[in-house]
Amino acid sequence: MRLTIPDPALVLLVGPSGAGKSTFAAAHFRPIEIVSSDALRAMLTDDPADQGASAEAFHVLSILVKGRLRRGLTTVVDATNLRAIDRRRYRQLATQHGIPTVAVAFDLPTQRYHAHNTRRPDRVVDESVVANQAERMSHALADLAEEGYAALYVIGVDQGIAEIEVVRSK
Ligand code: GTP
Ligand code: MG
Repeated sequence: MRLTIPDPALVLLVGPSGAGKSTFAAAHFRPIEIVSSDALRAMLTDDPADQGASAEAFHVLSILVKGRLRRGLTTVVDATNLRAIDRRRYRQLATQHGIPTVAVAFDLPTQRYHAHNTRRPDRVVDESVVANQAERMSHALADLAEEGYAALYVIGVDQGIAEIEVVRSK
């Protein structure tokens, strides 16, 4: 699977915990291009799973996204991005700066999210949280198609992240 992504672009990763968003981002983008809600929670609290720091983490995240878009720099938002209103804000921000938004969604069977989560080395997300996110993901998938991205890519269960090729187009 080949993903053509304009450069610069705002890249929204969309998917439940365990979907492979961070794995995908690390494989295809420079660390400095990736703005991650978990990384910011960890910087604020020493704990990437500390949901009590979410408001501050997303505040910092939006400052970073705005700053990078203003400078015309490709930016990957590594968060679940399951809420339509959040995605709309990011799209509007990118549009204000003349930058296209690309969505990369991870559409896997719910058991896969759970399986990835239980096997992960960093942290395990509560099963009920993941189940709720998987439910929201099905709505997000329907919405994404209507939201008008420069490109929308859906990574399915047969698509190994290692086999994905990302091509940046000027
Ligand atoms: P959150 O940060 O919790 O939202 O999850 P995430 O979407 O960033 O998932 P992440 O990339 O951290 O993947 C979670 C775990 O699943 C990691 O240990 C990955 O190595 C593993 N994983 C992700 N995608 C795949 C995959 O396609 N195949 C296999 N075997 N493991 C995967
Ligand atoms: Mg992650």
